[in-house]
Amino acid sequence: MAIPYKKQLLRKEAVFRDPVHNYVHVQHRVILDLINSKEFQRLRRIKQLGTSSFTFHGAEHSRFSHSLGVYEITRRICDIFQRNYSKEKIGDEGWDDAERLVALCAALLHDAGHGPYSHTFEHIFHTDHEAITVAILTSPETEVYQILNRVEVGFPEKVASVITKTYPNPQVVQMISSQIDADRMDYLLRDAYFTGTEYGTFDLTRILRVIRPYKGGITFAMNGMHAVEDYIVSRYQMYVQVYFHPTSRGMEVVLEHLLNRAHELYQEDKKIFQNHSQLLLPFLKEKFSLEEYLRLDDGVLNTYFNHWIEEADPILNDLAKRFLNRKPLKSCQFDPASQQPLVKEMQKIVETAGFNPTYYTAINSSFDLPYDFYRPKSGKHRTQIELQQKDGTLIELSKVSQLVSALAGQGQGDNRFYFPKEMVDQSLQDNYDLFGETYQSFANHIHNGALIE
Ligand code: NI
Repeated sequence: MAIPYKKQLLRKEAVFRDPVHNYVHVQHRVILDLINSKEFQRLRRIKQLGTSSFTFHGAEHSRFSHSLGVYEITRRICDIFQRNYSKEKIGDEGWDDAERLVALCAALLHDAGHGPYSHTFEHIFHTDHEAITVAILTSPETEVYQILNRVEVGFPEKVASVITKTYPNPQVVQMISSQIDADRMDYLLRDAYFTGTEYGTFDLTRILRVIRPYKGGITFAMNGMHAVEDYIVSRYQMYVQVYFHPTSRGMEVVLEHLLNRAHELYQEDKKIFQNHSQLLLPFLKEKFSLEEYLRLDDGVLNTYFNHWIEEADPILNDLAKRFLNRKPLKSCQFDPASQQPLVKEMQKIVETAGFNPTYYTAINSSFDLPYDFYRPKSGKHRTQIELQQKDGTLIELSKVSQLVSALAGQGQGDNRFYFPKEMVDQSLQDNYDLFGETYQSFANHIHNGALIE
């Protein structure tokens, strides 16, 4: 009798060489088929970190390599659970290896719906990568759906429910999505590797040694506390040093204004974009199909920006140039509680100097970025990191770790006011003449110490 598709193992396991995990091991036919699907291959063309590569030039890695990494960590966790904590071994609290394939598929596909420059794109065009991931998994026209559906009827929906966190087994859900999951563990290590920030790394081998299942999800052995602490500290470092970097955000602001300008112009004159930006039209119209969404990637957008530098609209072409040639807006930190009036005044000065403040200034808060610190008090019970004590009871990490409690207690993050670099560039004598006193008063706000650069 033929072996059912879901049980088919490759005659010889496939491996993908990976700089973070050394090898990514693929044993199931289903997983290899998913990797080879066109929707998954698209992820090669989307950078994991978007505009961060303008600050850290090594950070050109793709969502494809991150997705393989999340799969690999999940696979290792399944192996450890099956070896040491199976239901047969430890009873009810244990791992049921029948869940392996659904966990592996969800891990591999968890970011399938990300688009180019995801965070910014979503903001302007009101798309939602998680909803699109679910659509890719459950729409009969996708290759991903067809592969998952061959496993068994209802399997695509099952995998999708892990992504939406409604899958009944919390162990599977928390492997992919919790405060210390395969997704975060991979992107922290991978982003640290490709940005070159060595302090962003932590001891994955040790964490995998102390991770264990329990009835309500996933926990860590008490003697693994220091490895988990180290993970939290790395996470903190990566947020402060990489994800919240003011220059990357300055590029993100340029991108956001550029896409916004295109959106605005389209309302006035539909022809502009019909010549050279066809794949973007459905999004400018805000009416798009899944197929149209899957045509987009970083290369498509960058090509369009390249066309826009020749467009007549001065704001569109200037912002496109600033983006392609890496001219981020500059910024200073401010306190929204007391310094709003000052920021308003500075906005006016930027306008007097000839810049449209809608497109050349911005308020940007790191709290709005898709990354988050570990904040045990704000989260629900199931989003905390818990350690398992000798008597089997669980205790939240910051209650036993002074290091984590010190980091978790702070309201980290910042609010920044963004403006054109020309406003403070003393070396540009032309600008000095151009702005005259205006320039002086703007620069004084920053240089007299009212705001922090
Ligand atoms: Ni991810």
